[in-house]
Amino acid sequence: MSRPFDDKGYNRDASIVNPKGQGELTPGPQHGKARPAPGGPFLIGEAMTGGYSKSGPDILQTCTIAVDKGEIGVIVGPNGAGKSTAMRALFGMLYLRGGSVRLDGEDITELTPQARVVKGMGFVPQTHNIFTSMSVEENLEMGAFIRKDDIRETMEQVYDLFPILREKRNQPAGELSGGQRQQVAVGRALMTRPKVLMLDEPTAGVSPIVMDELFDRIIEVARTGLPVLMVEQNARQALEIADKGYVLVQGANAHTGTGKDLLADPEVRQSFLGG
Ligand SMILES: Nc1ncnc2c1ncn2[C@@H]1O[C@H](COP(=O)(O)OP(=O)(O)OP(=O)(O)O)[C@@H](O)[C@H]1O
Ligand SMILES: [Mg+2]
Repeated sequence: MSRPFDDKGYNRDASIVNPKGQGELTPGPQHGKARPAPGGPFLIGEAMTGGYSKSGPDILQTCTIAVDKGEIGVIVGPNGAGKSTAMRALFGMLYLRGGSVRLDGEDITELTPQARVVKGMGFVPQTHNIFTSMSVEENLEMGAFIRKDDIRETMEQVYDLFPILREKRNQPAGELSGGQRQQVAVGRALMTRPKVLMLDEPTAGVSPIVMDELFDRIIEVARTGLPVLMVEQNARQALEIADKGYVLVQGANAHTGTGKDLLADPEVRQSFLGG
């Protein structure tokens, strides 16, 4: 498993299958008031440079991405810009030649993805993010694999957030619609009670109505104080709900600002938002 979270192939998301992640999660104060982490944003990948192998090309070029408590951070940019790569770098799936990743003030640059899950990172990859042959509820249970305490309450919270999942709890996740599958994937990540939630294209392939609905749920999650960092193809709509926005081009930061700032920026509008 040299690339345990590779998009290609079966589901290798170690936050689910993680057989060695025996650490206990100490859940953060997710239901308290949002407060900034001391000494910088809650999660930051700073000046990240690196690629998929030691000898391969650098996909990221001094790329910086950060998100703070109670915030929604959004990464947008053209196909192949390195959005998923930046997420993977934050999650420890890249060879970083330069830069660092810090979580709640702690340098986690050297940690494995598994160890980052234990530290509180919840990551939903762009593809292969659920077990299709397992029921909805089994997917949620798998998400809580690293926990040894009672997961009932968290599961109820997930069902409250996504009521359709309660209805379909015994159905194979593969029989659900695209939007419902994404809810399973997000719910699965929430089962670890993460301190930060990272979503790679949570609304890929869903209708505009379902997209709005998913965004509403994501806003709800962020309002509990849980920072959310997401990659989105629906740039305009995503920037509308973004506290922090990042436009990536060829692995580098092209524009950074509040969602509002970026939506108002003529260059961003013309180049990335269709005018
Ligand atoms: N597993 C991998 N091994 C080697 N190179 C990869 C791998 N995954 C992506 N790349 C390369 O990294 C670059 C950035 O890809 P990435 O998937 O991060 O883009 P993206 O912005 O997420 O695109 P999309 O909008 O299509 O999801 C591309 O040149 C791609 O070919
Ligand atoms: Mg991608």
